[in-house]
Amino acid sequence: MVEDTFAAGSFEEGPFAFIIHPIDPKADVSRKYPFLGRVLTERQIDLFSTYWPPVFVSQVEGIRSADNGKRLRGYLLAAPFTPRRMLELSHERVYRKVVQVGRLAERLGTRMLGLGAFTSVVGDAGLTIARHLDVPVTTGDSYTVAIAVQAIREAGRLMGIPPEEATAAVVGASGAIGSACAALLANDVGRLLLIGRRPAALEEARERCEGGSAQLVTSTNLDDLYGADLILTVTSAIEAVIHPEHLKPGAVVLDVARPRDVSQAVAARRNDVLVIEGGMVEVPGPVDFHFNFGFPPGKAYACMAETMALALEGRYEDYTLGREIHLDKIKEIDQIASRHGFRLSGLRSFEKEVTPAHIAQVRERARVSRRTFVPRGALA
Ligand SMILES: NC(=O)c1ccc[n+]([C@@H]2O[C@H](COP(=O)([O-])OP(=O)(O)OC[C@H]3O[C@@H](n4cnc5c(N)ncnc54)[C@H](OP(=O)(O)O)[C@@H]3O)[C@@H](O)[C@H]2O)c1
Repeated sequence: MVEDTFAAGSFEEGPFAFIIHPIDPKADVSRKYPFLGRVLTERQIDLFSTYWPPVFVSQVEGIRSADNGKRLRGYLLAAPFTPRRMLELSHERVYRKVVQVGRLAERLGTRMLGLGAFTSVVGDAGLTIARHLDVPVTTGDSYTVAIAVQAIREAGRLMGIPPEEATAAVVGASGAIGSACAALLANDVGRLLLIGRRPAALEEARERCEGGSAQLVTSTNLDDLYGADLILTVTSAIEAVIHPEHLKPGAVVLDVARPRDVSQAVAARRNDVLVIEGGMVEVPGPVDFHFNFGFPPGKAYACMAETMALALEGRYEDYTLGREIHLDKIKEIDQIASRHGFRLSGLRSFEKEVTPAHIAQVRERARVSRRTFVPRGALA
């Protein structure tokens, strides 16, 4: 049991716990176990992760509501599986491991538990895991959707792309986060392209988007991204799916997926497009995670922020679970989080802050590339 350094009282909520897991196996294992990260290969990490017990990563402190000054503390706990391992193993084995981590959270006195990245993707998106635990559970996906849509609107504004004239695309549009993002974007943009692998699932996503201002198009061909000005990508692929040849000059791409959907080659070869990391949020108060999960100080993933905001609100109940993310929950968690002081963080591109100078450079390079740009793809 970790020593409780906070006095209990009405000015404190929580604790919450949030489950993380290695995404880039060597880099992420090195953050907690530098020696093992150095000597083990990725495949060895994948295999050992099956037998590794739940890991207590760190205590989180310093969160303070901007609304009522309430403090919140919590824990980062790790399920040692990598995304590849979670896809290889049966759902039952993954659930069992995540439930073990949840039990550790319960022993620590946790009152709200968030499921990070692939722990909320596998199987039925948190429903079975929540059924096996006493602590309330959320995937954090409602706030992830709210923040993703805010981020793409903001990035489009900075790039001078009027939404009503834009073609937007959602890659992974049949997924939990993708279909909800698409339903919100359908109210903003001129044309909305829903990209996925399964036509029947895309048709369901299209029906969810009806009634908005956008003309709706579905596609299973990533080459059709060539026609898009604003791209929100959120697949659960474990390798990158968006490559330099998919993007037109001046396109904005918001990558919400972990592992990332946009290949590193885009950073190296396409300085005429703007790629933004999705899901980064500013946390109210002098938060210290006591662990570097790859974000600048004071920032969290939107799904972590949903867990924290629910705890600050004293809403200790199951919240976002399952693949259907409801628009009323997205609106509600956005209001709760914003009242407590969480907000969309400054935009970042390939681990660097996006500055006005960077935007100006991308816009200028896009203007030059457009002279030689040859549209490609069925919808371009
Ligand atoms: N940034 C954040 O704060 C945050 C928070 C939560 C989750 N996430 C990330 O968001 C992503 C999606 O989560 P989700 O809950 O929406 O998952 P989901 O419901 O399982 O949806 C995944 C989508 O990805 C598609 N897909 C899977 N593998 C693919 C491949 N190889 N190529 C192309 N498309 C593929 C699926 O298509 P099919 O329908 O054809 O299978 C589906 O549309 C994950 O990477 C997760 O880690 C990020």
